[in-house]
Amino acid sequence: MPKDLLISKIRDKDGLVCYPYDIIDADVIEAGRKLRAISTYSVGYDHIDVKAAQRRGIVIGYTPEVLTRATADLAMALLLALSRRVVEGDEIIRKNKWKTIFGPDEFLGSDLYGKTIGIFGMGRIGQAVAKRAAGFEMKVLYHNKKRVSALLEKKIGARFVSLDDLVRRSDVVSIHAPYTPQTHEIVNLKFLKKMKKTAFLINTSRGKLVNEKNLAYALRKNMIAGAGLDVFQKEPISSAHPFAKMKNVIIAPHSGSATVETREDMAKIAVRNLTLALSGKKPIYEVKVRLNH
Ligand code: DGY
Repeated sequence: MPKDLLISKIRDKDGLVCYPYDIIDADVIEAGRKLRAISTYSVGYDHIDVKAAQRRGIVIGYTPEVLTRATADLAMALLLALSRRVVEGDEIIRKNKWKTIFGPDEFLGSDLYGKTIGIFGMGRIGQAVAKRAAGFEMKVLYHNKKRVSALLEKKIGARFVSLDDLVRRSDVVSIHAPYTPQTHEIVNLKFLKKMKKTAFLINTSRGKLVNEKNLAYALRKNMIAGAGLDVFQKEPISSAHPFAKMKNVIIAPHSGSATVETREDMAKIAVRNLTLALSGKKPIYEVKVRLNH
């Protein structure tokens, strides 16, 4: 919904259900004079001015946990598709270009077995990716704002390293951190230059963690081997986007949580969060940040 329409509609509303594409900034919150609850149909809440809402006593609900597995699955799907050239293979056949049967050195991809995945952001989704990567017999490094407990590290078989180490040592760098001023375009030319030439970058978190111009440059110059991207700076992107023209990139339409089961669960939680908050109770999942008045 365009911002001016949202502003005009929200004036007399008590509650709002929104999506990651709706920008719920201070103007929208200010316009919602009666607003008591915001329920986002997403785990990310970087589209909401949480502080402005909290200052007004507006409760914010979100939908974590239920989408963890689906999003981790998509990260693995992008990685497998990249490493085994699944999209290219499909295209070759559709364009009638499959000529050689089992050419010994044709159409080669790379193994995941024995490779190192570096997970940036060891929250719920990062942990689910770590488990999946371990299932593919990969070594797991991670970097997070805060180191997780030794028990959890052991359980998921992940080693904490500095971001610099993670970027330099990983064969796959997978991004699972939220978008914040600190993570804004953290994947930039400096970051990409440190990556192995043979490495893949996977991003299923938020597009704004990546400087897209820098990434396109790095991919064009083969500074890294490829990227699997579900999120972009400005969505939706079209076929004119540089990434859509690159063979070493696999793109998805922000579909990390897009499974029937997950979206149903998210919908139920989003509604429940809203109704609970409007009846003065605690939502199932509430966003809360510290306010420094
Ligand atoms: C989320 O929940 O934040 C996803 O990015 C949208 O499905």
